[in-house]
Amino acid sequence: PPLTQDELKKIAAYKAVEHVQSGMVIGLGTGSTAKHAVGRIAELMKQGKLIGIVGIATSTKTYEQATSLGIPLSDLDTHPIVDLSIDGADEVDPDLNLVKGRGGSLLREKMVESASKKFIVIVDESKLVGHIGGSGLAMPVEVIPFCWSHSLIRLKALFAGSGCVAKLRTGDDGEAYVSDNGNYIIDLYFERDIGDLNEASDRILRLPGIVEHGMFIGLASSVIVAGVHGVTVKTK
Ligand code: A5P
Repeated sequence: PPLTQDELKKIAAYKAVEHVQSGMVIGLGTGSTAKHAVGRIAELMKQGKLIGIVGIATSTKTYEQATSLGIPLSDLDTHPIVDLSIDGADEVDPDLNLVKGRGGSLLREKMVESASKKFIVIVDESKLVGHIGGSGLAMPVEVIPFCWSHSLIRLKALFAGSGCVAKLRTGDDGEAYVSDNGNYIIDLYFERDIGDLNEASDRILRLPGIVEHGMFIGLASSVIVAGVHGVTVKTK
């Protein structure tokens, strides 16, 4: 039978964990793909094949998973330099720029991954896109809750030329989704290409009330893509 999407995610995750060495400080990503990497690291630790690993979790969810599996955890205050981070992504473009944060953990992910000497992204082939932000799927922006609808209007206005629709992310209960950092998420949807990514990033980050966005520009060192025809590694 053909491999399921979850099996592909696991293949990419296990491949990335081959780069983990004893004694490393590892950024532990968040999401359904990264969860396989965290599980694999814990398994190799139990087998005694990896020793002296310190993990830095990118979300409370990953913190809980890693803790339950016995991976010792620290933070960027104690370990400001991370040897290797492994995480999934929602979109990957041909230059290895990413969209992340559909699971809501973009801020801590970006803090940890930008502090990493190496950042390996793990995806199944469905995540590959021609242009990030152009897939019609959400580009998340974390905002402070204070006057969030004002921030939403200002974000939408920034991208009026790209046919931008902006929506406050809500949970199943219809209430605003609250991030690990106590913030809200506004999802941006674009009808047309947003153009230069660095320019778009600067414009978003210049708005007061905006904490971070889900474009990870130039941060990935390599991307491991698992597809039905095998695994490919894309490197900058
Ligand atoms: C978490 O907020 C995200 O950035 C995830 O890393 C990303 O959404 C990938 O998640 P999946 O592996 O579940 O697709």
